[in-house]
Amino acid sequence: MNPFREATISLDAIADNVRHLRALTGVAVIGVVKANAYGHGAPAVAIAALAGGATRLGTATLDEALALRRAGITAPLLAWLHEPGRRFDDAVEAGIEIGISSMEQLMAASEATPAPASIHLKVDTGLSRNGIAAHDLERVLAEAARLERIGRIRIVGIFSHLSGASIADDREQLTRYEAVIEQAASFGIHPEIRHLAATAGAIDIPEARLDAVRIGIGLYGLSPFADRSSSDLGLRPAMTLRASVAAVRRVPAGSGVSYDYAYRCEKDTTLALVPLGYADGIPRQASGTGPVLVNGRPHTVAGRIAMDQFVVDVGDEPVEVGDEVIVFGDPTLRQPSATDWADAAGTINYEIVTRIGDRVPRRTVS
Ligand SMILES: Cc1ncc(COP(=O)(O)O)c(C=O)c1O
Repeated sequence: MNPFREATISLDAIADNVRHLRALTGVAVIGVVKANAYGHGAPAVAIAALAGGATRLGTATLDEALALRRAGITAPLLAWLHEPGRRFDDAVEAGIEIGISSMEQLMAASEATPAPASIHLKVDTGLSRNGIAAHDLERVLAEAARLERIGRIRIVGIFSHLSGASIADDREQLTRYEAVIEQAASFGIHPEIRHLAATAGAIDIPEARLDAVRIGIGLYGLSPFADRSSSDLGLRPAMTLRASVAAVRRVPAGSGVSYDYAYRCEKDTTLALVPLGYADGIPRQASGTGPVLVNGRPHTVAGRIAMDQFVVDVGDEPVEVGDEVIVFGDPTLRQPSATDWADAAGTINYEIVTRIGDRVPRRTVS
């Protein structure tokens, strides 16, 4: 029986993608498993990434990192986005490394027990998001050096994040990052791990690989580039989203389909109902354009994607309730890709996989 709705996650693909990127870059891989591992299921992905050779994991929030600890992950963990006023005792207690973006966060880390708190200084080299701002850098470096000397903190890393605006822009950020490393050294700060590049920079800018690369989208086998596919990069998509046909109906020519009758059947035809909608993360913007396979044959969403379902016009094909629908998976198996859906919806593949909702059970396969 085909599953009603299901996302299968290939743990082999995850581990292979890490192996591939580790070999390509020749440096340590930090597996980025924030946002429930980009929708793939954080604990299982974390284990697979470590099995593939990742030596550290990264999350946005400490809550995400703490959940991984509770799930039994003992590998080094780094979290870098904190709510104002956050205290770090629980993180230090759990042995989680704290990304520090401001003087306030540095002070909170220095006050956490048991000391020393292990930290990575996050510097803004041009992205203008979080990270220590350029005007604050000298003051924060001086204080961090003092706190390390008195044993309140341990500075494990210094990191930053690239914009991906262009290779030239990223190289400019790398130059700024190198200046920060020199400035830190002048204060006596010598981090073990310098890290700057995420997937795109790790692949395209060898000089940005430094001591480690933070791999998110590549871990999941998806390409961060508009002009190169997963297989061009030697990566294998880990998630396959499938469902079974929930209803089949024969309708006469001229029938309207779904809200607003945005699609009308040109001739007598068969409509198959797929039990996935925008509440499950299927982007409504892909109404009329999203690609699917029904029983292995390619079709396009007919009309509006609704909250819980969408319709496919399968013509005169013999489709029955329970037949298999693949929404996206591995394009080398002739399945639509998450990137195809991103293109159909005018977004990026990151958004397609991270938005697959809780109503869709994840099943890991290896
Ligand atoms: C700080 C940081 N590092 C690494 C990543 C991973 O990026 P990517 O998924 O492009 O590899 C992210 C994701 O947004 C990030 O915020």
